[in-house]
Amino acid sequence: MPEQSIAQLSRRSFLRAVGVTGGAGTMFATMGALGLAPASAAPPPFDPPKASDFHLTGRRPGTVIVLGGGIAGLVSAYELGKAGYRVTVLEPRDRTGGRNFTVRGGDTLTDLHGFAQRARFSKGQYMNAGPARIAQWMVTLDYCRELGVPIEVFTNSNADAYIYHSSMPAGQPMRYRTAKADTFGYVSELLAKATDQGALDAELTAEDRERLMEFLTDFGDLGETLEYTGSSRRGFTAWPGESGAPGEILGDVPSASAVFASGVGRHFSFEFEFDQAMLMFQPVGGMDRLPRALTRAIGPQKIKLGCRATSLTQSASGVSVTYTDAAGCAHLTTADYVIAAMPPHLLTGLTHNLGADVVAALTAIRPSSAGKIGLEYRSRWWETDHRIYGGITETDLDLVHVWHPSYGYHGDRGVMIGYYHYGATADRYSAMSPKDRETTAVALGERIYGAKYRTELDSSFSIAWREVPHLEAAWHSFAGNSPQSPIFKPLVEPAGRVLFAGDWLSNMDAWQHGAILAARKAVTTLHARALAR
Ligand code: ALA
Repeated sequence: MPEQSIAQLSRRSFLRAVGVTGGAGTMFATMGALGLAPASAAPPPFDPPKASDFHLTGRRPGTVIVLGGGIAGLVSAYELGKAGYRVTVLEPRDRTGGRNFTVRGGDTLTDLHGFAQRARFSKGQYMNAGPARIAQWMVTLDYCRELGVPIEVFTNSNADAYIYHSSMPAGQPMRYRTAKADTFGYVSELLAKATDQGALDAELTAEDRERLMEFLTDFGDLGETLEYTGSSRRGFTAWPGESGAPGEILGDVPSASAVFASGVGRHFSFEFEFDQAMLMFQPVGGMDRLPRALTRAIGPQKIKLGCRATSLTQSASGVSVTYTDAAGCAHLTTADYVIAAMPPHLLTGLTHNLGADVVAALTAIRPSSAGKIGLEYRSRWWETDHRIYGGITETDLDLVHVWHPSYGYHGDRGVMIGYYHYGATADRYSAMSPKDRETTAVALGERIYGAKYRTELDSSFSIAWREVPHLEAAWHSFAGNSPQSPIFKPLVEPAGRVLFAGDWLSNMDAWQHGAILAARKAVTTLHARALAR
């Protein structure tokens, strides 16, 4: 390209020139930088450590102990392993994955209340008790790709799923499509009338007004008179059929006042969220396909299951760690570095010399509660009787969210998530025995779905994350702080040989994506130090 500034070129000729020399990919990226193409939200940059980074340095990759075999710990070990670090993962549970826990038949759990459960799910049936959905932009999917973990769509929103509020009669939940048609219809009607009557003239030009009216009549499916009177968007009592059967639109359109009073509109913004918008994905066969693949890639012999760290002492030359193995025997081990990828509130329980600032930071991260119950049914009555294939029914009951499985369509059986709730509700259910949780959940679910919610039930498995040994949290709260708050500096920019990782050390707490980003940051810091020392 001749020496000529971008400003001297027309935008089109500049882009043509870039296209010729750099190819379409370069041109598209350049268009993005100029604001002419959809901005691509690239995954955050990460340069995995490589063995070749040590060439000509006179140094060799050292030893690392990773405390915790959850996603942050596994990703740390996996990435360090690429450069030849000798990594040992200490994991107190009998499995890797941490909160990434897929429950299948035969899995057992005894919680801190002493409630013992053995899952009786049939072959091929499972519940993702922890993470269960992945957004397309999350780096979690990059690990699925890299490790060959197949993925499939997780249906997060479904027009045919229900909304059920206690004010609705039993057995008469509302379809999402109906709730949306009515809410968007009336909101559009009001705004269209206000615009038409000139109420927004101070805000809008005549052209703006025209465009807004065009949008609103379409968005709300309004008639000539700008009234919302119902619409095929509500659904049908008889679907349009063969010639002579035009269908019967669902009638009894409630008044605007009744629609607003019902509060159904409060559920719609969920699917607008950057982290919850469709499409979302899940690994085929269960979320734990990811930690299993990571475990294989690290080398299972490097992961000590049933081993609980008890102390951590760092010095100028290394870190020593004591731990207790599954048989209760105490061990002492040493390494050049430690990545502490344990729950922050459990990390404070170790004997250590990390200092008061680290303790203050760890203590500022508080554990949060959440619970789920998986209900295995002998038939997929939600598909056959309710025509619901995946997606979430929202309720104002204790159940909060009820999930229809996004796998195994048209199979003989299926596992519904009968509740997914948090906070005080989760604490209340956690105190109940698993049998009582099931009884309560089924009684509430029956109000939405009818008798089969009870009669078709085969077995259940429930989890109360605050009570799961060695994890004791679903996710975290930050007591008025943000992950950027100075109090967390000793964790984010640790001075010594102990580094920290976990979703709780990212801006995406409660997501594997956050755990991965925190792990990558710890790995990058560790590697830079190892190369510099
Ligand atoms: N990331 C968690 C969820 O999607 C909180 O439910």
